[in-house]
Amino acid sequence: MGTLILCLFYLLLYDAIWKYVNFMKRIVNKHPLAIRWFHWINFPVLSVMIWSGLLIYWANDIYKLGWGDKTLLKFFPDSFYDTLHIDHKLSTGMAFHFFFMWWFFLNGFLYVSYTIFSGEWRYLLPDRRSFKEAWQVVLHDLHIRKTAPPQDKYNAAQRIAYTAIIIMGIGSLITGLAVYKPVQLGWLCALCGGYEAARVEHFILTIGYVLFFLVHVIQVILAGWNNFQAMITGFEIIRQPKSVATSVAGVEPAVTAQPEQSDLPVTVIEPLYSETHTEAEIPEVAGIKELPESQPDLKELNSVENNLSNDENVKNEN
Ligand code: HEM
Repeated sequence: MGTLILCLFYLLLYDAIWKYVNFMKRIVNKHPLAIRWFHWINFPVLSVMIWSGLLIYWANDIYKLGWGDKTLLKFFPDSFYDTLHIDHKLSTGMAFHFFFMWWFFLNGFLYVSYTIFSGEWRYLLPDRRSFKEAWQVVLHDLHIRKTAPPQDKYNAAQRIAYTAIIIMGIGSLITGLAVYKPVQLGWLCALCGGYEAARVEHFILTIGYVLFFLVHVIQVILAGWNNFQAMITGFEIIRQPKSVATSVAGVEPAVTAQPEQSDLPVTVIEPLYSETHTEAEIPEVAGIKELPESQPDLKELNSVENNLSNDENVKNEN
């Protein structure tokens, strides 16, 4: 047993030394602070909206999947209400729903405005290749296709999904308002096809959120910790063989610290998505404002290094 543990120890040590010698880390800025705030505020707010919506829906639960008298799936079975204690809470549901809808609206409005003014929309909106590429992404995710199509910040499937969820959010607000004030906002209600249609649309959009959420979380889990933590810290840590990392697409990294300046093998603050951006765009995209070419921004470098040294995972990887 002792020998086995010793062997394992040497193996881990060898692996760590090998990585230290042959690999360097790239710090890639990924999500701006504002996007992270909007994203993480949206999650609990949307959860409350769905939960309180269910409390309201229970009072008149008319939807089902089926035809004629045949019911394949009733929304929702009694067991569902019993398990989640959803029954007889109509007024609680309305109070929460009509309070949090303002936060849902405000957060969504600020998020969309931010993406427009910051230029982040460029990474989110699908382009004319996205629909073809999204299919290739799906085939790749299902391990049917070997290579994934080239991507920017998000792949084609993500672009379509994230844009769809924003449109769905707008749809929920419109149909929600139509159901909330069908008389005062009669024109909006008519625009949705009448009260009944607006209610169905509102319900379907909610089911859509739940499906999106399930797929989204599964994808996040599959993408791994590094991808997830970037939605919290804002940056991703990418390991690359030293030979590749020194220059990407002929563009020199914005800031490079030599090994003797850092306890990491090499730390590079890398411009974001350097593969697809011109040199002129890089300082802006990387969030590094007016970086003088000859003088690395050591303040920025140090703050990233501090973040790194606080990060237990990174230490362990070393
Ligand atoms: C536990 C819940 C959630 C987790 C762990 C999570 C995680 C993440 C992560 C890691 C990303 C970045 C993906 C990447 O860089 O490839 C992301 C992006 C995104 N997520 Fe979520 N998410 C959650 C809930 C939600 C919900 C409820 C919604 C909306 C219905 C949502 C909508 C989005 C959108 C629109 C983006 C793109 C943001 C942008 O860059 O503008 N997420 N999420």
